[in-house]
Amino acid sequence: MSEVLEFSEIEPKRILDVTAGGGGHLCALIGKHRTSKAEAWDRDPRAIDRVKERLEHLNLRSSVELREKEFSERPKDEGLSFDLILADLGVSSFQFNPEISGMSLHSDLAPDFRMNPSQGLGFRDWLKTKTAAELEDVLYKFGEEPKARKLANALVGISDEDLTSAKGFAHWIRRVLSYQGSRIHPATRIFQAFRMAINNEFGQLQKFLDWAPKFLSPGGRLLVISFHSIEDRLVKRAFVEVARQESFKVVTKRPILPSDAELNENPASRSAKLRVLERLS
Ligand SMILES: C[S@@+](CC[C@H](N)C(=O)[O-])C[C@H]1O[C@@H](n2cnc3c(N)ncnc32)[C@H](O)[C@@H]1O
Repeated sequence: MSEVLEFSEIEPKRILDVTAGGGGHLCALIGKHRTSKAEAWDRDPRAIDRVKERLEHLNLRSSVELREKEFSERPKDEGLSFDLILADLGVSSFQFNPEISGMSLHSDLAPDFRMNPSQGLGFRDWLKTKTAAELEDVLYKFGEEPKARKLANALVGISDEDLTSAKGFAHWIRRVLSYQGSRIHPATRIFQAFRMAINNEFGQLQKFLDWAPKFLSPGGRLLVISFHSIEDRLVKRAFVEVARQESFKVVTKRPILPSDAELNENPASRSAKLRVLERLS
C-alpha cells in the first residue's frame, strides 16, 4: 500500500518490518530514507530468500538485517526501539503461486496452508487431529461459511485421494457445498479459513499488538495493514487501548483505504485497511 510511505514521513532511523514478504514496502522505505537501518522478519524462509536477492540487486543489502521469525515473538533485546514498525498482514502473492504452493485453488500440489512449510503438520495430518465440531468452528468463524456443519462432517471422512492436489480438493469442496451459480469459487473462503487457523493468524496478531507499541521510540509510528474485518477490529481495539493508558496517540481515527490509483495498479489491495499509532515525543 503506497500510503505507507506517506505515514513514514518521520525520517525513521531504525525501521522494523515484521512482514517482509516480497520486500516491496521494505525496499521502498529504505530506498526513500537512505540513512535508515532496518530489521526485516518473515516466518516464511522463501520470503527471506527472495527479499535478500532483491536487496542485493538494489544494492541495499547492507542496510537490512533479515530474520526468519514469527512476529508474535518480541525482539530479544528489550532495550531496542524503532522509529517505524510495519506489519502488512496476510500472505504474499508468491505464496499463492500454484507451482510452489498448495494454498492455491489451482495447484497440482497437495493442499498445504502453512506459510512456513517446514513447520508444524501438513494439511492431511492436521485434519486428522480435528473433530467435526472443531472443523465446523474454523469454517464458521474464519470462513463465515453458512454450510460449515455439512462440510465439517464430510471432511472427517474425506479420502486421501481427494487430498492429492489442492485443485482436486477445491473441486471436492465445490461438490459438497453444491452452491448454485456462485461467482467466486466456494473453496476460496474455505482455503482462507484453513490458512488462518493453521497459521494461528489472529493469535499471532494479538501477541504482536501486545509488544509492538513498547518498542517504539518517542515520535515513532506503528503501521498495521489488515485485510480481514476481525484483524482490523483487533488492531483498532489495541490502538485505542494503548492510547488511553499511555503516551500514545492514534493517528488514523478511521482506517486509511487504498486510493483509486492503488486499486487500479493492485486490485488485490481492495480490502486493505491501514491504521497508525504514534508514540508521543
Ligand atoms: C502481505 S505480505 C507482506 C508484503 C510486503 N509488505 C511487501 O511489500 O512485499 C505478508 C507476509 O507476512 C508474512 N507473515 C504472515 N504472518 C506472519 C507472522 N506471524 N510472522 C512473520 N511473518 C508473517 C507472510 O509470510 C508474508 O510473506
